[in-house]
Amino acid sequence: MKSNSGKRIGIFGFGCVGQGLHDVLQDNPHLHVAKICVRDKEKLRTLPKHSFTYDPQELLQDESIDLFAELISDPKEALQIVRQALEAGKTIVSANKKMISENLTELVALQQEFGGTLLYEAAVCGSIPILRTLEAYYGNEPLQEVSGILNGSSNYILTKLDAEGLSYDEALAQAQALGFAEADPTLDVGGYDALHKISLIAAHAFGAVVKPEQVLRSGIQHISKGDIHLAQALGARIRLVASARLNKNNNLELQVLPTLVFPDSELYYVEAEFNGVQLQARYAGDQFLKGRGAGSHPTGSAVWADVSAALAGYKYSYPKFRYNDEEQLKPVPLEEDDELKVYVRSTMPELLPQLPWKELTTFGYSAKSTQLVGTINRKDLLQHLPALKQTIAFVALLPAQVSGEQVVQASGAVLEEAA
Ligand code: HSE
Repeated sequence: MKSNSGKRIGIFGFGCVGQGLHDVLQDNPHLHVAKICVRDKEKLRTLPKHSFTYDPQELLQDESIDLFAELISDPKEALQIVRQALEAGKTIVSANKKMISENLTELVALQQEFGGTLLYEAAVCGSIPILRTLEAYYGNEPLQEVSGILNGSSNYILTKLDAEGLSYDEALAQAQALGFAEADPTLDVGGYDALHKISLIAAHAFGAVVKPEQVLRSGIQHISKGDIHLAQALGARIRLVASARLNKNNNLELQVLPTLVFPDSELYYVEAEFNGVQLQARYAGDQFLKGRGAGSHPTGSAVWADVSAALAGYKYSYPKFRYNDEEQLKPVPLEEDDELKVYVRSTMPELLPQLPWKELTTFGYSAKSTQLVGTINRKDLLQHLPALKQTIAFVALLPAQVSGEQVVQASGAVLEEAA
């Protein structure tokens, strides 16, 4: 293993993750922080002014710097920085899941062309070493499914609603104050952040490059206390679950959906900002990894691990990537006829029965809102979800064995208790 002694790092960004990295690097006196590049000259900082630069080129063109850490939230600026570093054949680590997932093909090609290195463990599930596990351990073994809770903020909110009865706004404000949420929290609660993460997981686990529109996605913004109480009456908890799985035709299906999880699932016990990832491998069987998915120090720890690995010469090998376009594993949810069972609450009662349900139980009907449990083809749900979302709807996945009748009974129990 090469030594980190005397190595110099240039950091872009001094927000939650940048400060976390700076803190954890205090335990590594051999690695010297050259400078930190920030945008806002006026902002009060915890370090003296000479620690900072406001010009990215001062860092990018400094030949004495051995590697960079890109930790800013703006995906466009982040892409410019990472692109320039890779075009110069440099080593850079990043935590920007949106930027990386949306530009992965280009970023892999740049590394191949110019010989640089990009690592991004901190972009997926904070401190859980999921990408390294997929690369180093499952590089050859076929995987059936990778799924789990990939967004700490929404899990924090869901836990607080469920366990402490906080309002949605209170819980979101706490997630923001604790540094878990993105600068734009819509990314968290809308399921976009989990979508970016499951896309990166799909690249390493299945070799697939995924477009956002191929992912069935719904968030938790419109969850109500009634939805939480209904899940409780069924003995379940609501979690935002992302999954990438091979279906019976060996095609990849990706989704990010609020999901009712029961005590027989590991995900039931993943609370607050923790994340949990389940792996189903052909020979190893099932595995579960759990850890802090957001926050300054856990994410700083993941960046530090990448910095150390990069300095030791580690690169992702994308062992399952298929470079030939025709061979590329394509996610094809639109062609599949797999069925999903879902719970829906919507503010437009007249719209819901119009969807192509295979089975439907409607309840809680009122002029303002209706609820239902229905079975629907995933391709139909993917197609109708945008219209459904315009009605201010909350959609959650149910296990196939939960019947509409059970949900109606649970809803009755909730109403009785409230009366
Ligand atoms: N906003 C992200 C989350 C941060 O809540 O999970 C970690 O990626």
